[in-house]
Amino acid sequence: MVEESALTNWKPVILIADGNHTMKIRQLLWKARSDFNDLKFPTPGLDAEILLAFSIGRERDFLYAHPGRKLSDNELKRFCTLSERRKKGEPVAYITRKKEFWSRDFEVTPDVLIPRPDTEIMVEEVLKLSGKAGKGGIRILEIGTGSGVISITLASELENAVITATDCSPKAIAVAAKNAVNHNIEGKILFLSGDMFTPVEGKFDIIVSNPPYISENEFTLLAPEVRDYEPRHALIAGPEGTEFHCKLARDGKGFLEKNGWLVMEIGAGQRFSVCKILQENDYCDINVRSDYSGIERVVMARKEG
Ligand SMILES: C[S@@+](CC[C@H](N)C(=O)[O-])C[C@H]1O[C@@H](n2cnc3c(N)ncnc32)[C@H](O)[C@@H]1O
Repeated sequence: MVEESALTNWKPVILIADGNHTMKIRQLLWKARSDFNDLKFPTPGLDAEILLAFSIGRERDFLYAHPGRKLSDNELKRFCTLSERRKKGEPVAYITRKKEFWSRDFEVTPDVLIPRPDTEIMVEEVLKLSGKAGKGGIRILEIGTGSGVISITLASELENAVITATDCSPKAIAVAAKNAVNHNIEGKILFLSGDMFTPVEGKFDIIVSNPPYISENEFTLLAPEVRDYEPRHALIAGPEGTEFHCKLARDGKGFLEKNGWLVMEIGAGQRFSVCKILQENDYCDINVRSDYSGIERVVMARKEG
């Protein structure tokens, strides 16, 4: 991974020596980073690099190898247009229609949540639990698959997994199915559209979900680039924020095998309420795992045998 600051921190002595048309990669990066920084975007240098690399059809590494390369008129026009979209607040992943998860590229559209690195923690936990499940084919159900990153990563990592993935949004299911084809695992996942468990049949060894978990009040406090661009139904759970965890714990029992695991992502501060919900629904072996920022992020619980 290329560091945020290395190229974009470069300060030109003369920014535009001979007009926009001859601006080089390092100058453009510096300018875009500075503009994004002024707008208080969290990762201004990274955003600038991704958009510039995308504008010239290269990987980010290319920018480091060729900081003195000039852009053609078309490339420069494209970069300016994309930078303007970013300056208005549009997330980079929706501009490039691409987001990395588990070191793989996934297509994203405004119909799906942009996958977050924190969710990789949940995938790690499901992989560990899958290892305990023995040699037979392990059956996994994902509720709320969005772009499909969780199910597709699990299907790619687990040879013996049979996966069902659902989402209430048919448009999200279309994005997930396309990602599955792009990753050559389409035969391993059954994609279903519908509300929660409604389209699902059968029993599973693991149910995994990164459900909507933002409360209605919290939603108003989200960064504009999340609040104004990502699908509301992927974010807002209800007045409490834990409404989906409740439904998953309550209805999930009917779809879990004995000793099967329910694995859910949670938001900051939701540990206590979600663990209580699981206890009230007679789950045992309740465990919590924090993400790399120290925020409790994943809750796992076993359906008693
Ligand atoms: C937080 S997003 C997670 C998306 C993806 N799994 C990820 O981790 O990036 C929640 C997902 O749940 C879906 N969803 C919301 N309400 C639902 C419901 N009632 N039934 C099924 N899926 C639902 C949304 O469409 C969205 O794709």
